[in-house]
Amino acid sequence: MHTLTLSPPAGSSTSTRIRIGDHAISEIKNITKNDENIVMIFDEGIRSIADDVASKIPNVVQIPVASGDVSKSLSEVDRIVALMLEHGCTRKSLIIAVGGGMLTDLAGFVASIYMRGIPCVLVPTTLLGMVDAAIGGKTAVNAGACKNIIGTITHPTDIFIDTSFLQSLPLPQMQEGLAEMIKIAAITDAPYFEWLQAAIPTFLKRDAKTIDEAVLLAVTAKMKIVEQDERDRDVRLLLNFGHTVGHAVEALSGFKISHGKAVSIGMCAEMNIARCSERKSIEHLLALAGLPLTIPEVMKGHDLWILMQSDKKNQQGEVKIAVPKRLGEGAIETISEKQFASLFA
Ligand SMILES: NC(=O)c1ccc[n+]([C@@H]2O[C@H](COP(=O)([O-])OP(=O)(O)OC[C@H]3O[C@@H](n4cnc5c(N)ncnc54)[C@H](O)[C@@H]3O)[C@@H](O)[C@H]2O)c1
Ligand SMILES: [Zn+2]
Repeated sequence: MHTLTLSPPAGSSTSTRIRIGDHAISEIKNITKNDENIVMIFDEGIRSIADDVASKIPNVVQIPVASGDVSKSLSEVDRIVALMLEHGCTRKSLIIAVGGGMLTDLAGFVASIYMRGIPCVLVPTTLLGMVDAAIGGKTAVNAGACKNIIGTITHPTDIFIDTSFLQSLPLPQMQEGLAEMIKIAAITDAPYFEWLQAAIPTFLKRDAKTIDEAVLLAVTAKMKIVEQDERDRDVRLLLNFGHTVGHAVEALSGFKISHGKAVSIGMCAEMNIARCSERKSIEHLLALAGLPLTIPEVMKGHDLWILMQSDKKNQQGEVKIAVPKRLGEGAIETISEKQFASLFA
């Protein structure tokens, strides 16, 4: 097992201890001794994993949440807060969040606002949760059609990344995580990218050692970015690689194309616009992971452009993309509708 410490930039008080490895969850019993009330909020789709975690924490109060992004809402926050009050939770209580990115975003948000903030421990159970959503302090719920529009940046005290949980994760969910792993490697970490080129086939066969190493390298890469820039002011913006076009593709499909697949398509389109020299090798790795590379033919360039302009990260109608200029080295570029339209010519 590996233990890492994430120290956010000055101004943020907490640092996070991250344990990574096969059966890392067994360590959780050591951190939950002094808390008054422990509440485990979990995705009810993974009850057997949640039962395993609960068995290590005496007298834990359990709050199940229905699977799916629809649970990332203020009404769900309200329901959870009411249950915590009923159970007598105070400022000294602790929340343990067990589930994928949906659950850790939601439970992390509740912890950040309950009685102005109580400590939180994350136990991500999806690959995307382990390498992306749990790392970096972003918590959020959705409102109306707007994703992640209400939230905080509040770091958990501890994260337990037990890679054995991935053995039950369906392939499409693994691919959601892989898209973000390839993204971060391509734009910030060339040695990790080269390592992935050799490791993806073994990874897809769920070899436990390869999965451990891949997750450890991805978490380390994301930590490096978050430690420099927690609030998307400079280097963290590079993690939007693939997301400018990707979010538009996801929305225009009515969310039928998953986030990871849309980001994969987005990375290819953005590299094409910016004429990236490494485009072929990045596309090859995405294809090896079984991810799609092209915008569906039914989608019109102008419709995507309108959605890209309205993205909350773009201002005054400008559209920015983050692309790797060289492997592991990213830059932000502003693009015009004409450049984007050239993809459809
Ligand atoms: N905070 C951040 O920085 C950040 C970053 C990226 C994504 N996100 C958020 O993460 C969410 C998506 O996360 P996700 O892809 O993990 O989806 P998810 O949390 O919705 O989980 C997907 C499905 O996998 C199931 N599942 C979870 N663990 C499992 C396991 N070990 N075995 C079998 N099934 C399992 C769940 O029950 C669910 O049905 C979105 O809400 C997104 O906005 C947040
Ligand atoms: Zn993403």
